[in-house]
Amino acid sequence: MDRDEHVLITGGAGFIGSHLARALLKAGRRVTIIDNLSTGLHANVADLEGDPNFRLFVDTIQDVPLMQKLMLDCGTVYHLASAVGVKLIMEQPVATIDTIYQGTEVVLRLARRYRNRVLITSTSEVYGKSEKVPYCEDDDRVEGPTTKHRWAYACAKALDEFLALAHWKETRLPVTIVRLFNTVGPRQRGQYGMVVPNFVQRALRGEDLEVHGDGQQSRCFCHVYDVVRALILLADQKSNCLGQIYNVGSTEELSIRQLAELIIRETGSESKLRVIPYQAVYGDGFEDMRRRVPSIQKIHEAVGWTPSLSMQDIIQDVASDLRVQMAND
Ligand SMILES: NC(=O)c1ccc[n+]([C@@H]2O[C@H](COP(=O)([O-])OP(=O)(O)OC[C@H]3O[C@@H](n4cnc5c(N)ncnc54)[C@H](O)[C@@H]3O)[C@@H](O)[C@H]2O)c1
Repeated sequence: MDRDEHVLITGGAGFIGSHLARALLKAGRRVTIIDNLSTGLHANVADLEGDPNFRLFVDTIQDVPLMQKLMLDCGTVYHLASAVGVKLIMEQPVATIDTIYQGTEVVLRLARRYRNRVLITSTSEVYGKSEKVPYCEDDDRVEGPTTKHRWAYACAKALDEFLALAHWKETRLPVTIVRLFNTVGPRQRGQYGMVVPNFVQRALRGEDLEVHGDGQQSRCFCHVYDVVRALILLADQKSNCLGQIYNVGSTEELSIRQLAELIIRETGSESKLRVIPYQAVYGDGFEDMRRRVPSIQKIHEAVGWTPSLSMQDIIQDVASDLRVQMAND
């Protein structure tokens, strides 16, 4: 198989990466994953290990000699490895900055040497606390102070974007940046502060759903299957889309309180809502955004992508996955 058909996924044993790996294998590609299993799980990809087109390396992307070898083998690199989740980021601020910035620096430096096609996963967090609705890719960023750890994630990801665009500008490295908004679906776990799996699990157990703040903050949730489709469409573009940034997310907006109520209804649960102040959950130094809605016009115009699955589809898929997991625990 030629190098172009062989892809490397950093962070491929994580939530999005493991779905991406399956989709690419199904499309006939050869897939190599590197993941240090910090938030990813071997179980997410264990069933792929018999496939001759699949390889897993349990290691860090900061291991340069190994990364050199892997990137030489592969044409395209989907760079997903990162510290992820508000709770983890608040608890491990040093590791967050190190992993995000140093890891991406390694990927881009080697991609420049071996001329890989690179897709970098950034985040809607880079828009910061801008109150503009919806967010467009060229909008100003509004970040909080460096004394509030929450902003370290957004700043480190923004620095990754600067570095990727600088490589494009200087050497035409074929890089595309994707700003993911809230992505949800099977295999995402609630322990790092992810709201949908957390609420669904509590609803299935009949426990109270803890709504942080006043619950009026809203988000748009996109099914991971739709997100994976967007990543592949963009990475497969070898001339359009280079040196560009694209929002990827759903435009169906709902408040966290509405989300909790919908999950209770969809799962037929008897759970109740419990409102908890942010300070009690994250301590001092936490700030949250009221709304975060993407404009997806740019990606739609570039590759024809729009999300196809609804919030109800997401809740049903997450609930089915968690029921299996809870039965096995
Ligand atoms: N899930 C979302 O809603 C969302 C939103 C915005 C951006 N993103 C971005 O999408 C990407 C994937 O996120 P996810 O939701 O699948 O999270 P995840 O935590 O499931 O995946 C990240 C993976 O990276 C791995 N990893 C971390 N540090 C590593 C290192 N140094 N070396 C090798 N592997 C390492 C982890 O073990 C994990 O498997 C991340 O870059 C994240 O910032 C996700």
